[in-house]
Amino acid sequence: MKNKLDKILRVDHAGEVGAAKIYEGQLKVLGKTNVGPMIQHMKDQEKEHLDTFHDLLNEHEVRPTIMLPIWNLAGYGLGVISAAMGKKAAMACTIAVEEVIGKHYEKQANQLTEKKYQGLKKKLLKFRDDELEHKDIAIEHDGQETPGYKLLKFVVQSGCKAAIKISEKI
Ligand SMILES: [Fe+2]
Ligand SMILES: [Fe+2]
Repeated sequence: MKNKLDKILRVDHAGEVGAAKIYEGQLKVLGKTNVGPMIQHMKDQEKEHLDTFHDLLNEHEVRPTIMLPIWNLAGYGLGVISAAMGKKAAMACTIAVEEVIGKHYEKQANQLTEKKYQGLKKKLLKFRDDELEHKDIAIEHDGQETPGYKLLKFVVQSGCKAAIKISEKI
């Protein structure tokens, strides 16, 4: 089923573009603070994820989502704004995003039952673990203690879920 693979690769590539941009935006604001190296670590892992999907898109001749320029801007904007609200708000943003992406990879991996997809499945599960590690790091750095945590989380997660739906389709 070529269509299923297309959808998975397109949306995952889009998500990793957004994730890398979020951390780039946060680094712009918080790069020189004590959380800088930790955000850099997450950004480096997102870059690794992004490169993987970039290569897979080429290999399987799947076009990226047409929304890519928008996700670039939205991701960067979210990173800068959340970081400008403070370290804890930046961490809250990470918790919100990584929770959605972690579940997303888990769900995709469960759909890949065919033998030919086991290599991809393994990658998705590794990335899921990375994303959940990012979430845990952000919890350890008091992301849940930011004022308005629940609202912020709801808004960010709603945005992520909408972006996922759109990127799977176009
Ligand atoms: Fe990632
Ligand atoms: Fe991540």
